[in-house]
Amino acid sequence: MNWQGQTVMITGASSGIGAGFAEALAARGADLVLVARSADVLQHTARRLRAAHGVRIDVVVQDLTAPGAVAAVRSATEQRGLTVDALINNAGFASAGRFHEVPADRVNTEVALDVAALVDLTTAYLPGMVERGRGAIVNIASIAAFQPTPYMAVYGAAKAFVLSFSQALWAENRRAGVRVTAVCPGPVDTGFLGVVGTSEVRVGRPRQVGYVVERALRAVERNRPVVTPGPENAWVPLVSRLLPRRLVAAVTGRSLRGAVDAPSAARVPTAGSLTAGFPATEH
Ligand SMILES: NC(=O)c1ccc[n+]([C@@H]2O[C@H](COP(=O)([O-])OP(=O)(O)OC[C@H]3O[C@@H](n4cnc5c(N)ncnc54)[C@H](OP(=O)(O)O)[C@@H]3O)[C@@H](O)[C@H]2O)c1
Repeated sequence: MNWQGQTVMITGASSGIGAGFAEALAARGADLVLVARSADVLQHTARRLRAAHGVRIDVVVQDLTAPGAVAAVRSATEQRGLTVDALINNAGFASAGRFHEVPADRVNTEVALDVAALVDLTTAYLPGMVERGRGAIVNIASIAAFQPTPYMAVYGAAKAFVLSFSQALWAENRRAGVRVTAVCPGPVDTGFLGVVGTSEVRVGRPRQVGYVVERALRAVERNRPVVTPGPENAWVPLVSRLLPRRLVAAVTGRSLRGAVDAPSAARVPTAGSLTAGFPATEH
């Protein structure tokens, strides 16, 4: 896929993986629409990327969990005469803890951002892509999508939704010229864990944002429905398919309970040494 001159909307572009997509795509000559709540950060990023790459950058400051949020984003792009050629649904966050102890409004916001906003944005921009016979939807799921995640119950379920939704759209659109890819990273070195609620949770050696973004873009270019960046994550989809679901839930629960109850001691083992040499697994 040639990104040069394409207009790509990135949600959650003010930090972490979204900011990494913005860097990588501006460097490839794409025009960008950056969406998040942090106006100053987005404006600063826009100025920097325009100066560095000579591309058009639009900023839409929007809380995607607010009522009417996606309609507002859509009308902002329409008013500016923008055609969104590709959409990267990246904004998301997680809650940790026993489900019944997580505040209800936090749970609702998590579902609103990780699931509802992603679906609504896809509803807003996919029809135009299908009509034009080209485009891309990139949904940032997680390695958590492949199994139930006790103590992060809503997050795993939300990402499982994103994975399943993406795979279905990939199949619906693969002959329509529109690519759909679910990106399922393991731990990535961003501010994400701070937002989870405890910055002490440790879930393996994190990958750098640039690594994840490059693997994701390569998967989109190859029209792969799913990518799990990093060889250390390659076994997760397979193992979680082969083992009984209740065993997977129990083992995952033991790992994550440790992380929540005794943050500094907890580690989820990785299998990087077994699979070193494979840069990413596309499914
Ligand atoms: N980091 C990891 O280990 C990891 C692993 C697997 C998957 N992921 C997924 O990767 C995606 C990006 O996470 P990240 O690690 O880059 O985390 P991050 O650095 O915390 O970035 C989250 C982004 O989402 C935006 N955002 C949060 N709430 C929002 C809202 N209500 N409306 C609009 N934008 C909102 C934030 O911007 P504002 O605060 O400015 O709104 C920020 O730009 C998420 O979907 C996450 O689930 C992360």
